[in-house]
Amino acid sequence: MPKLAILTGGGDAPGLNAVIRAVVRSAILTYGWEPWGVRDGYEGFLRPDGIFRLTLDHVRGILPLGGTILGAANRGNPFARKVVRNGKTVIEDVSGEVIERFHREGFEALVVAGGDGTLGIARDLFRRGVPVVGVPKTIDNDVFGTDATFGFDTAIDFAARALDRLHNTAESHHRVMVVELMGRHAGFIALYAGIAGGADIILIPEIPFRFEVLCRKVRQRISHGRKFSIVAVAEGARPVGGHEIYYRPGEEGLIVPRLGGIGQIVGRYIEEECGAETRVTVLGHLQRGGSPSAFDRWLATTLAGEAMRLVVQGKFGRVAVLRRMRVTSITLDEALAEPKRVDPNCDAVRTAREIGICFGDEIGKDEPCNI
Ligand code: F6P
Repeated sequence: MPKLAILTGGGDAPGLNAVIRAVVRSAILTYGWEPWGVRDGYEGFLRPDGIFRLTLDHVRGILPLGGTILGAANRGNPFARKVVRNGKTVIEDVSGEVIERFHREGFEALVVAGGDGTLGIARDLFRRGVPVVGVPKTIDNDVFGTDATFGFDTAIDFAARALDRLHNTAESHHRVMVVELMGRHAGFIALYAGIAGGADIILIPEIPFRFEVLCRKVRQRISHGRKFSIVAVAEGARPVGGHEIYYRPGEEGLIVPRLGGIGQIVGRYIEEECGAETRVTVLGHLQRGGSPSAFDRWLATTLAGEAMRLVVQGKFGRVAVLRRMRVTSITLDEALAEPKRVDPNCDAVRTAREIGICFGDEIGKDEPCNI
């Protein structure tokens, strides 16, 4: 029986277990391949106990589970691995060890579920002769070439319901509620959850905002009788001429910068400059956990099915993608050619503006109410 390895890299996302389950089930039940799991992303290839045989028992009951039964690591790039040598932290290329282990174990294919970081490593391994296929994953939805990545739907559903809850308390206390949402350098989560959760202001990296416009919007709402406002802020949002806010700055190759803090800055500004009592909530990793939505289970399963077909057909160096609700595949190079970002002129932004949502660049429409 040919052997295949599967790993889940980068930050976890709801739906990873559905991918593992679909790969294991179709490999065993349909294609006669022997599936093996790699623990903690590419790291598993570097550890003696990092690889184990997967059976149907391993994947029984995991479809509704968040996280990943294989473990994930979003700092485990074998081409630039952080290691301590003589008491000093240095970066080393250990990709040769990964490739050597892959071949020594007798694997004929590697299925990688990951975002652009993990898929970038997959592409580099493919260039060095590893037969790999990818499945795009991330709550951020920022992988180019696919209409959606699994994990995104679950994340926006959670975020939208959080906005619903904040609405209740914002209205009771006549407050401005600022919610900071994940998404890295893309605003998909804030845009979609903001629309679904009825936000009054949505700030995304793709549309730099002006602080004074936020105040005008909040004041416009107050003067029209709406004494509360909901502001959805993407963690990568930035003011015109400004830059992204990092909770912890990075260090070339050693420390990955961590976004965070723009919500507090926006909240403080609104409270101090607009005179509106304001509270800030950071949803953080709550957006990454939990049981995947039905859509994400479907998407993860269907993409994994396409990945397995690529494996058995020997079509490596490709990624399964969703296009107009159908699965197909593109090359890793195509998927990584450019980052996917919100188009500021897309239908969602246009409609949001038309229904009065402010993006911080212009105040937007509103109608006085009688309350
Ligand atoms: O890429 C997914 C994501 O959740 C981003 O939205 C966020 O910026 C980042 O990962 C957080 O990473 P970590 O889990 O390392 O804090």
